[in-house]
Amino acid sequence: MFDSGVGGLTVARAIIDQLPHEEILYIGDTAHAPYGPRPIEEVRGLALSVMDELVDAGVKMLVIACNTASAAVLHDARARYTRGRGVPVVEVIHPAARAAARVTRNGRVGLIATQGTVDSRAYDDALSSVPGVELLSAACPRFVELAERGTTTGPEVMEVARGYLAPLRAAEIDTLILGCTHYPLLTGAISYVMGQDVTLVTSSEETAKDVYRELAGCDLLRDTQAPAPVHRFRATGDPDAFAVLARRFLGPEVGCVTRACVPAAG
Ligand code: DGL
Repeated sequence: MFDSGVGGLTVARAIIDQLPHEEILYIGDTAHAPYGPRPIEEVRGLALSVMDELVDAGVKMLVIACNTASAAVLHDARARYTRGRGVPVVEVIHPAARAAARVTRNGRVGLIATQGTVDSRAYDDALSSVPGVELLSAACPRFVELAERGTTTGPEVMEVARGYLAPLRAAEIDTLILGCTHYPLLTGAISYVMGQDVTLVTSSEETAKDVYRELAGCDLLRDTQAPAPVHRFRATGDPDAFAVLARRFLGPEVGCVTRACVPAAG
């Protein structure tokens, strides 16, 4: 699985909790983070390079633990890896959209995400077939910067959150999709600003259910009698900086982090 940085660890947490026997190989593409402000074609190239690396390392499944990357490669990842190389692919956009459609009561759903994800309209497409649902989107790029810095509480976070979320509060949404895997790290502040009547939806739990379903359906679940799983973490940027933050957000599962050598996209 991969993300531009530590955000995808929110999905890793749910996968480890739901599938404790599976082994994770996680790449944080920190050398190219953030993905959000980059043109979608560039994100596509970066994401394909990382996924090629993961498939070459022998993974049995790919999890795109990043909304921006999911939006960029939604259409061709399955052709390239599932049909091309026999590796199932799970992404994070449809699981979150599905959960939001299920929980909304008034049909007014908010989306906060990176600029790339908002511009891609991937969530609008995912929800277009659900009758009575209206999507209101806001790009919140500074949330990624705060999460990558490890600043998840305090006055700066509150001020940024109030600014970004004011239009969504005014629009009286009752459900808010955290459409970036970094944002659950700021759940406390986002929930405080939005109020208790707004349900926050993240992709992690739903994505982990998709991973379970795919692995079980393809008869790929790891033997429960096998030795305890060893998770591996790689970063394309500074591995030590990644390790410190990753341990804080994921926990003791993060052992030593090595540098991933992913060739430049293109
Ligand atoms: N965590 C990512 C996402 O879900 C990307 C954040 C970024 O690199 O801008 O979109």
